[in-house]
Amino acid sequence: MAVDLLLGLQWGDEGKGKIVDYLTKDYNIIARFQGGPNAGHTLEFDGIKHVLHTIPSGIFHKTAINVVGNGVVIDPVIFQKELDGLAKFDINFRDKLLISRKAHIILPTHRLLDAASETSKGKAKIGSTLKGIGPTYMDKTGRNGIRVGDLELDNWKEKYRQLANKHQALIEFYNVDVQYDLKELELQFFEAVEAIKKLKFIDSEEYLHQAQEENKTILAEGAQGSLLDIDFGTYPFVTSSNTTAAGACTGLGIAPNKIKNVYGIFKAYTTRVGSGPFPTELFDENGARMAKVGHEFGATTGRPRRCGWLDLVALKYAVQVNGVTELMMMKADVLSGFETLKVGVAYRYKGEEIKHLPYNIEAENLEPIYKEFSGWKEDITKLKNENDLPQTLKEYIKFIEDEVKVLIKIVSVGPDRTETIIKNQ
Ligand code: IMP
Repeated sequence: MAVDLLLGLQWGDEGKGKIVDYLTKDYNIIARFQGGPNAGHTLEFDGIKHVLHTIPSGIFHKTAINVVGNGVVIDPVIFQKELDGLAKFDINFRDKLLISRKAHIILPTHRLLDAASETSKGKAKIGSTLKGIGPTYMDKTGRNGIRVGDLELDNWKEKYRQLANKHQALIEFYNVDVQYDLKELELQFFEAVEAIKKLKFIDSEEYLHQAQEENKTILAEGAQGSLLDIDFGTYPFVTSSNTTAAGACTGLGIAPNKIKNVYGIFKAYTTRVGSGPFPTELFDENGARMAKVGHEFGATTGRPRRCGWLDLVALKYAVQVNGVTELMMMKADVLSGFETLKVGVAYRYKGEEIKHLPYNIEAENLEPIYKEFSGWKEDITKLKNENDLPQTLKEYIKFIEDEVKVLIKIVSVGPDRTETIIKNQ
């Protein structure tokens, strides 16, 4: 059976958690393929709001199996907190949650290194979530990392000690003020590791191959967004994994020819949290309104998100890199009430009009060229049928589809599971 992918097309926070949760009923297995607790996937249903960081967003459904793939990095302390948070929902996660032995572990010193590295960068800092993501992937590619499967070995603590000592030397090398009590952090860490060890560790690529043989349906869940991809994002203001479709192959062991649908999620406008270029960013009352109405605060860090108009050049790029087959537009309701909407359709760059993302994407080099649209006044959150959408919103949607050449399958009009319109039925 083929595998479907779901990923974000902007700088993260597109609303992937809601859509995975919505689609889970159609899948036997939900598998996370990259990133770690830097992600915050928000789900809302039955009046409850819940944020997941590492656990796949299918966990709230009765039957779906949730796999944390080899491409993911796991912080046992945060993972344990996530499990504790699920306790009140009466979820039998011991049977439904499987963790790849090849996933790498975030150590307390990875987090400290992240903080030291960011502090040393001063004004040039990435705006990392400081969850230790970069240093953990560095140890993975440097072939020094500790993997989930190592926790089953007797001597893993020796390996841990060696690596932690090396990290401490590196932290000193940065020569910046990072306060920490490693003993206390390690106490929490080792306790959490014992809790995690009670979960099921698997050879996830084998498990997923077997599942495909048995015709099970699999949805691969991405984290962050395509413009934060380590290769194709706005480097160096990116995360440290491949957030694009190829990441599902390396992060789960899924063969490229087994991928069928690629669901690309984007917001009807654009947001970004942390530093880095954002050509269509707004610094006026329109941006402030998007932030307020859209509750644009990071689900992991609580930081305010930067807001701006939809950037079609960047969206097209992400659609191409991922081979998106269906689009899903989120938070259309946030744009209700704007007199005029704008969409970035090209950039002015070195005196020329260009329609691609140039190598040097510093905001001051790029001036977006906009197309304007009339807004709509109606509250659309209660709508259930695409035909009932305001005409101006239909025109906005049609323009995006024509430009990007992929149909929008879902229009989300509110945070709850039920506030979802399926188009082209
Ligand atoms: P890191 O992955 O925590 O090191 O962060 C690197 C950059 O990616 C920073 O600009 C973060 O704000 C951003 N980032 C990381 N994870 C997410 C996410 O899940 N949503 C949005 N931005 C993210």
